[in-house]
Amino acid sequence: MSMSDLYTGHTALVTGANSGLGKAVAEALARSGARVLMVARDPIRGEIARADITKTTGNDQVELLTCDLSSQTAVRHLATEILQRTDRLHNLVNNAGTAFSSRGLTTDGIERTLAVNHLAPFLLTYLLLDLLRNSAPARIVNVGTRINTAMNFDDLNWDSRNYRMMAAYGQSKLGNIHFTRELARRLKGSGVTVNCVFPGVFRSNLGATDGAQGLFWKSVALLVGWALTPPEKAAERVMYLLRSPNVADVSGEYFGDKTPIPAPAQADDPAANAELWQISMRLVGLKDVDDKFV
Ligand SMILES: NC(=O)c1ccc[n+]([C@@H]2O[C@H](COP(=O)([O-])OP(=O)(O)OC[C@H]3O[C@@H](n4cnc5c(N)ncnc54)[C@H](OP(=O)(O)O)[C@@H]3O)[C@@H](O)[C@H]2O)c1
Repeated sequence: MSMSDLYTGHTALVTGANSGLGKAVAEALARSGARVLMVARDPIRGEIARADITKTTGNDQVELLTCDLSSQTAVRHLATEILQRTDRLHNLVNNAGTAFSSRGLTTDGIERTLAVNHLAPFLLTYLLLDLLRNSAPARIVNVGTRINTAMNFDDLNWDSRNYRMMAAYGQSKLGNIHFTRELARRLKGSGVTVNCVFPGVFRSNLGATDGAQGLFWKSVALLVGWALTPPEKAAERVMYLLRSPNVADVSGEYFGDKTPIPAPAQADDPAANAELWQISMRLVGLKDVDDKFV
């Protein structure tokens, strides 16, 4: 049996799928025979990537959805479109991420790094939970990083602190681990797992389209050999979490290369994980009393 027979009938969704890691994961999923829903913010960049993946893999079930994840209205529209397109979702990869060299607010009044990197995956996943549960066994992977800065729950929006790009990025990405831990707790017994992955350091466009890819990123690239590591290598870590039988029942973990790695202490505190969940619910305009988990 070939890989493509194995996952025929599976549906997967990847955000940030036109570039870097997201594109490499979308391609690996397409190669496995799954139907792949690619989410990109730019329709032209998205279509170029979609056509390329279809051509390379021969999989004609690769579809494009567009969404600017910085807008909560757009995320809600995206979720509605997904629910209209499919009644099954076996894999959700929250991969899209970015960094900004200066502070800016979204149309919802949220600091934009937090909006794209933490609140968008939070809201999208929340809106797709029934679909995922109905598709069980299903797996969610949140793409995190090792740059994790303690989250200041009193000022997630950087209203009263001096904005710093790496701290804002690191805070939002620690949010991915908090979110993973709390969601796993809530999904226990549902047949849906969720893990966070540090994909390694690899070549990509991270921050480039938002002007953040300045001297800092280029220096990091030189120092750690970013330019030498292709995103396809990083995609192997994500695919392991999506596909390996070894982790079929593992949930709530923070993974490096196929093994769990320690998370910052703040994300090991169940009270902090629960607190960020409640704050996030409010920031995306959902009810405090959570009817998806009663
Ligand atoms: N590269 C690394 O070494 C590294 C290390 C650790 C973790 N990561 C994580 O890996 C993930 C993928 O990043 P990458 O390195 O592959 O960078 P990338 O090539 O820039 O890919 C990021 C993707 O996110 C999308 N995106 C950004 N802002 C968006 C928005 N507002 N709405 C919708 N989509 C948006 C981008 O779309 P556009 O093409 O339109 O900008 C792009 O498709 C991120 O979560 C990042 O934090 C990367």
